[in-house]
Amino acid sequence: MTTVTITGRDRHGVGIAVHDGKQIYVPQALVGEVMEVEIGAPFTPKSARCPGTIKEILTPSPYRVDPQQHCAYAGRCGGCQLPHVSYEGQLAYKRDDIVAALSTVVGEQAEAFVRPLIPTSARPCRFKSIRYAASSSSARTPLRLGFYAPNSHDLVPVDACPLEPERFAQVAQGLEAILNELSIPSYDERKPQAETAVRALQLRGGDVNSVSAYLIMTGRLNKAQRTALEHSAQKLGLESLTVGYNNAPGNALFTRELELIAGAESITKTLLGARFAVYPNTFLQVNYEICTKLYEAAIAHCAQAQSHDLALDLCCGVGTMSLALAQHFEQVVGVEIVAESIAAAQANATANGLAQKCDFIAADMTKALPELIKRKRPNAIIADPARVGLGEANAKLLGKVPGPCRLAVIFCALTALKRDLPLLIKGGFKLDYVQGFDMFPGSQHVETLVCLTKA
Ligand SMILES: C[S@@+](CC[C@H](N)C(=O)[O-])C[C@H]1O[C@@H](n2cnc3c(N)ncnc32)[C@H](O)[C@@H]1O
Repeated sequence: MTTVTITGRDRHGVGIAVHDGKQIYVPQALVGEVMEVEIGAPFTPKSARCPGTIKEILTPSPYRVDPQQHCAYAGRCGGCQLPHVSYEGQLAYKRDDIVAALSTVVGEQAEAFVRPLIPTSARPCRFKSIRYAASSSSARTPLRLGFYAPNSHDLVPVDACPLEPERFAQVAQGLEAILNELSIPSYDERKPQAETAVRALQLRGGDVNSVSAYLIMTGRLNKAQRTALEHSAQKLGLESLTVGYNNAPGNALFTRELELIAGAESITKTLLGARFAVYPNTFLQVNYEICTKLYEAAIAHCAQAQSHDLALDLCCGVGTMSLALAQHFEQVVGVEIVAESIAAAQANATANGLAQKCDFIAADMTKALPELIKRKRPNAIIADPARVGLGEANAKLLGKVPGPCRLAVIFCALTALKRDLPLLIKGGFKLDYVQGFDMFPGSQHVETLVCLTKA
């Protein structure tokens, strides 16, 4: 047994101690804690990095809580990473992470740019929306839905997750029961699947407590299975049940091949005063309270532009921010790579009486940006890319936007912020402020809004 002090955290929330020139990675250890750990063999033969296992915590962090109080699956399930950290501690860690990432760009000034993290008001915050059936360990009979174990694709079956809406647990259990009655197994991601199997279930809440379910399967349902699932959807009171067919190897979920089994094709969600039709294969943030606050902040930054002729909404999804931007600008152009999302965005603009003010382009932003920047000279831009961030090409293109222009970029990952922000600053943008929004409490992820201005 070795006594160590935890001095750092990796990006998965794992505590790091330094001992005898080695870095010891200790899951569930918190910065500042002194503990006895068992040190394992290095991760790779010549590596100075070793795993550590907590044996006894000698000095606990003031942020430590008993995770079992909130969740019976804590420690085994990787659905969230910080169940052993108080909410106050989670907010402090996330803000520290933002400051650390920003300091790689602006040095010691970072602290001054970072505003307090915006927390969720609900405790616990029930935002989780995807359960998995697929597993890399073994296909399960009976089929179970749950989350992956930490750092693996081994399934931890879960009856009810404290981070998902209570109604979702009832729906997941109901669907699990009918899928088992129909003898439909879970997908084994290690081998090609001959029979129809379940990969994952995505649940979404619309307005007025409605729930829609999206089952991602490897093969087509037969008529009897379809009828049974339709009855089950009605019994469970689902607004809709859609099946997506995806027989690609690996663990990708996205598919264009959809079949509506019961109910409506889309759900309706009201955000920022506009009503949005959202489809199973179009993006919608999961934490409505926090995404509303995040969008309001990004739009407020853009609304202070010097002129209000044109705003761009890059990676616009179903137009959630485009329609709100249209309240401040004569014209809004939304760009999005998923054609189904653009079709929904167009219909959403029409349904909200904003079709005249909004244009939507189905394209990769890298292809659309040069023309938009040169010809249209936007006064303000929101960019809300996927976890990979803007990428070097797009950050350089945005750097070429002529001033004056206001820019709000939303980063899902701080690694992307560290890579993209220097390119935006090099392109002539000045950093105004940075703010974290706690979209995914319990996880180590933080959504980070970066607001910039070019004179
Ligand atoms: C985090 S979501 C944000 C969507 C929308 N702004 C919202 O909040 O609902 C990122 C979106 O970027 C889109 N996307 C990913 N890569 C893209 C690209 N290269 N060009 C345009 N859109 C892209 C995705 O399809 C997805 O809808």
